[in-house]
Amino acid sequence: MPASASSAVLADYDLLESTLYRIPDGRFMCPGFVDTHCHAPQYSFSGTATDKPLMSWLDEYTFPRESRHQDLTLARTEYIKLVQRLLSNGTTTALYFASLHLEPTQLLAQLLHQMGQRAYVGLVCMDRNSKDFYVKSLDQNATDTETFIATTRALGSSLVHPVVTPRFVPTCSPQLLARLGALAQRHGCHVQSHISESLDNDAFVAHLHPEVSGRDAALYDRAGLLTNRAVMAHGVMLTSAELALLAARGTAIAHCPLSNFFFADIPLDVLRCRELGVKVGLGTDVAGGYSPSMLNAMRSAVLAAKAVQMLRTDRARLAKRDRAPDGIMHEDAEQTRSRQGLRDAETAGVDTSCATECSNSGGATDCRRPELEGETGGISVDGLGTRGELDYRDAFWLATMGGAQALGLEAKIGSFEVGKEFDALMIDAMGVSTFDTFTGDKPLDVFQKFINLGDDRNIRAVWVQGGLVLWK
Ligand code: GUN
Ligand code: FE
Repeated sequence: MPASASSAVLADYDLLESTLYRIPDGRFMCPGFVDTHCHAPQYSFSGTATDKPLMSWLDEYTFPRESRHQDLTLARTEYIKLVQRLLSNGTTTALYFASLHLEPTQLLAQLLHQMGQRAYVGLVCMDRNSKDFYVKSLDQNATDTETFIATTRALGSSLVHPVVTPRFVPTCSPQLLARLGALAQRHGCHVQSHISESLDNDAFVAHLHPEVSGRDAALYDRAGLLTNRAVMAHGVMLTSAELALLAARGTAIAHCPLSNFFFADIPLDVLRCRELGVKVGLGTDVAGGYSPSMLNAMRSAVLAAKAVQMLRTDRARLAKRDRAPDGIMHEDAEQTRSRQGLRDAETAGVDTSCATECSNSGGATDCRRPELEGETGGISVDGLGTRGELDYRDAFWLATMGGAQALGLEAKIGSFEVGKEFDALMIDAMGVSTFDTFTGDKPLDVFQKFINLGDDRNIRAVWVQGGLVLWK
């Protein structure tokens, strides 16, 4: 395995040769997927309630549905269904939010232990701004969390671990955050929460905490919750200074592109996060994201990156228009020169199609829009962004190595390298009719078809830590 395998999916890095292991007949092995953000008790209503803004979605759907998980029988049924679904979709590692209930969350940890998934599980904590039926006192949150840490560790599993889990700032008092920060430090636990996930989140926190200008990052940092074992979901509204703070603390972002399309007000600029040194993993955010499939999360990540680029281009276009005295966009001298150059070249019979990796490739000129160049071109941060735009290979990297890094597991999982543990999928790309392949398709074309068109039917076997957990 080449040394570059752990650090780059892009450019000169041959994905199929070094991250994937090819076997005959259109089958290949790839590392298992890492879902860095998933709410287990929300699975039952995924695919519904996508028309609500975040705060009313929480009040009207989420809190009532999560509170049903007090019932151990219901919790068992729903949790088994979810874990089976995730394994079947190739998720070998998941970072879970459970509910506020101690016993059902202990049950989830036991089920994960039995079912063989690598899992980080959090008992959700909230002590304010929720319905009466779904809130606990500060002391109860803290003592239940300590009990959960102890009982999960008593399972003696090398795969299942407890996570300190304040839900988000609106439902956690600063005192609770501080208690949980101290607990995470004392017990050496991972931490997870939501951070600056939408305009309405930030507006609510501004109202609650004018003393820190309403910033989630400042509140979490003050509580000692921004650690190198913390994974914070969303982060779309974080400022550059806050991203730099997360980078300095070693705190990761769980990028949840599908749910961001519904709840966040802008898409996450993953390349900017990476440029500032922030670790980024990929998450489904079931049920804020309606799909439990990491393949869907990868596709959403590519679309979200396109949306980032479109917004950037549109902003530049509007700024240019606003600067024009008559408000109408006019061609500038540079554009005129380049247009005339193209016409002259065409007249002279030169191939003027694009010289870069776009679909016109092979020609002499570069048709990338110039205003994007300065902002993202040339960034080369640990595997992301060398082409200036995130594509299916980067999304796959986020779903594997990105997630491994976010959880501090980069030495154990995320790619096939000697010495790592074997969390793997066997993909059947040709024996299943999820897409067609044709003569002339290269291995990377088949891989791309799997990422864009494949589903759980293509995932024929799943291993975690060398043990076969699913064969179909
Ligand atoms: N913010 C606080 N709780 C939640 C949740 O359950 N899902 C999402 N997407 N955002 C949240
Ligand atoms: Fe979430």
